[in-house]
Amino acid sequence: MQTFTQYVAGSNIDTSLKQLLHTLVNTSKEISKAVSHGALAGVLGETEQQNVQGETQKKLDIITNDMLKNALDNDLTVKGIASEEEDYVVAANENGQYLVCFDPLDGSSNIDINSLVGTIFSVLPATEDELTEASFLQKGCNQVAAGYVLYGPSTMLALTTGNGVQMFTLHPETNEFMLTEAQVAIPVDTKEFAINMSNQRFWQPAMQTYINDLIKGDTGVRQKNFNMRWIAAMVGDVHRVLSRGGIFTYPADTKNPKKPFKLRLMYEANPMALLVEQSGGLASTGYENILDIQPQEIHQRVAVILGSSNEVETCLNYHAL
Ligand code: AHG
Ligand code: MN
Ligand code: MN
Ligand code: MN
Repeated sequence: MQTFTQYVAGSNIDTSLKQLLHTLVNTSKEISKAVSHGALAGVLGETEQQNVQGETQKKLDIITNDMLKNALDNDLTVKGIASEEEDYVVAANENGQYLVCFDPLDGSSNIDINSLVGTIFSVLPATEDELTEASFLQKGCNQVAAGYVLYGPSTMLALTTGNGVQMFTLHPETNEFMLTEAQVAIPVDTKEFAINMSNQRFWQPAMQTYINDLIKGDTGVRQKNFNMRWIAAMVGDVHRVLSRGGIFTYPADTKNPKKPFKLRLMYEANPMALLVEQSGGLASTGYENILDIQPQEIHQRVAVILGSSNEVETCLNYHAL
């Protein structure tokens, strides 16, 4: 079995990107340790601060954000960073070739119940001399690498550098990530969907009708029964989709008219869309491929529909009506 270090050494990517991947992955090992200490380290619970997203930050949102920020700042390949937990983009190293966008702790509402959380990252090329927010406003298809680390019963890394998706499992004794799935392939069909059903009455008609038809099962037009899962951490739900297929969606809703979408394009939707597409799946807003969206601002939010290709296409057909 290959270690992550061996895998990266043998891969056909720039030396500078190899270095950056090691920085991200080594920091994720430290985050895995911090998260696993839980109540023992006094790191659970909320702070009194709000982030730019309007969310009350958990202590671990801030701790993990600082861990990644410091590590990336010390990596000369990194020109700048953007994070869910930072109001503005942060300059790192003037001559860095890469911009890193991240969600340091995804699913942070799960942290106090010892349930799934993860870290999501996206790497873009730094193409301009001067670092501004505009430097980050690149389409998702520009990503040179994307991945997540899931802190679950095992700590797992899913990574793409544009050559499929590889999955690694952290060996608890050696503290090395081991390649446990060399080429992830999402089944094209599925009987499993993931959506927060409590928002049902706030969805648009297309999504209402689509989900209603799934729930009707073999008594409706779909003529098969579906099962539902919702982890409340995108990283966990997407990991299930990569592992055994499924459709995951956080659609537009009118619950808060000022905030029609929940998930963030740069830190959540884009990296997950690249992983899903690199595994043979599809990722859309319902009307546009996620990876083709021209971002207008770093904290932009989008509707997300991703997963098994035939099922996503079926869902998109409802949106085309
Ligand atoms: P974060 O913890 O990084 O703020 O992200 C939470 C996101 C996403 O991971 C998850 O799919 C979704 O919020 C859950 O939303 P609900 O609480 O509405 O179910
Ligand atoms: Mn958050
Ligand atoms: Mn998140
Ligand atoms: Mn988060």
